[in-house]
Amino acid sequence: MSTDAPRFPFCASEALAEGCHRKLKMTFEGREEECLLIRFGGICYAYINRCVHMPRPLDCEKDLVFDHSGRYLRCSMHGIVYTPETGTSVSTMCEGEKLRPVSIYEENGEIGIADWRVSAISPVLPVDAGPS
Ligand code: FES
Repeated sequence: MSTDAPRFPFCASEALAEGCHRKLKMTFEGREEECLLIRFGGICYAYINRCVHMPRPLDCEKDLVFDHSGRYLRCSMHGIVYTPETGTSVSTMCEGEKLRPVSIYEENGEIGIADWRVSAISPVLPVDAGPS
């Protein structure tokens, strides 16, 4: 595990409520990537925000990553559904393929990134203003 990885604090624990998500930008393996932080069953998980089907963010069509049941993550492009705990597709399409996990910590009321592959993060993404 990456317990000794450099830590990049991101937000307070209460800023990520159950069934919600937050996003950040990070330098991951030398490339800029978007990271999705979610809370499910009280636990925080993080994944690179890229669907296994096509290189699209899960929230590319809607600003949602959980499905209507709140039990699964769902790509808004073509609807692949993932288990929040493992990021595994449980849809027929791309069944068993996984979102790429990112190591995080939650300690003393703080959530952050602690992953050797990450060299920098940027705070909360600005709200996407969409095409002008
Ligand atoms: S791009 Fe995500 S389901 Fe197709």
